[in-house]
Amino acid sequence: MNKILVCGGAGYIGSHVTLSLLRKGQTPVIVDNFANSDPSVIGRLNSLAGVQIECHEVELADEAAVSRTFQEVKPSAVIQLAGLKSVGQSVANPTDYYSVNLGITLNILSAMERYSCDRIVFSSSATVYGEPEYVPIDEAHCVSPINPYGRTKYFQEEIIRDWVAAGELSSAVILRYFNPVGADASGVIGEDPSGIPNNLMPILGDTAAGIRKEVEIFGGDYATRDGTCERDYIHVSDLADAHVAALACDPEDKFEVFNVGTGRGVTVREAIDAYSSALGRPLPERMGARREGDAASSVAANEKIVSRLNWRPLRSFEDACRDDVRWRSQKSKSNSM
Ligand code: UFG
Repeated sequence: MNKILVCGGAGYIGSHVTLSLLRKGQTPVIVDNFANSDPSVIGRLNSLAGVQIECHEVELADEAAVSRTFQEVKPSAVIQLAGLKSVGQSVANPTDYYSVNLGITLNILSAMERYSCDRIVFSSSATVYGEPEYVPIDEAHCVSPINPYGRTKYFQEEIIRDWVAAGELSSAVILRYFNPVGADASGVIGEDPSGIPNNLMPILGDTAAGIRKEVEIFGGDYATRDGTCERDYIHVSDLADAHVAALACDPEDKFEVFNVGTGRGVTVREAIDAYSSALGRPLPERMGARREGDAASSVAANEKIVSRLNWRPLRSFEDACRDDVRWRSQKSKSNSM
């Protein structure tokens, strides 16, 4: 049996990747330390998939623990999504971010070498492009991350590039995510950020739930169609499917980088309107000042992934809003039981 090790498989994106693998008849094995995820996600995945998923609670920053896990699981491939992901914390504690994020990937690559596992799919981010020089952003766009978190992503890409160059059979696919949103259509798994969220969709959800009074729009004077910032929001289930497609990418393509986005921008104003429609009532909102570091527009050129992998985005931003509303309502029901 070919086991796929999903590092960070209990997290928001990892849980959807795990589900996508199961739905395509593959055998994911979750490895997570549950630092930023809820262990209850495993039971919910089991009930959704109708199987008992193999899961290991492992500190991936611990080299010996990673090696033991590889020895036991003997995976044929790895999907690496584990790591710290707060931009703000990475600015405050850069050494932690470099040590944890780079350390995890180095431990995984060493164990892959030791146990002859040749294929890795790596979770990177469009944040590596920094301030876009042109939009839509293609993979040839220069890389210039503007914070430590973004640099850890870029440095991990480069470490993987060197690892591939050194190994005769090794190959890697780097997926640069744009803005992941939404939840599985079942409403059983979704985004569950610990602490106060910074990203737009969890903020829309918190406002809908009354946890926040209103949505503050960060600036209305950008050079976009309605003056608010534009992003490429990719449904998390489409993003998850991209990982499965990436695993099937021809290993002859030793090191490939793909943007994962829809190719279509949605402004903050359009996002609020779409979420309000999914809810069936308008969300309270207020125009605020620009947020430092925000680009006016970030949209993916996705032609490369669409033409090279058996993948294209199937779900709209409206689907993502509907699925997020469903997930949040089911979660609050189960919390109150
Ligand atoms: N926004 C608001 N109000 C809010 C929160 C966000 O108007 O309360 C706006 C932002 O200004 C931005 C858009 O909503 O225009 C999306 O903001 P997010 O914080 O959700 O996403 P970003 O595009 O800023 O950042 C995301 C990821 C980062 C990653 C970056 C680049 O969260 O981790 O994309 O890929 F680094």
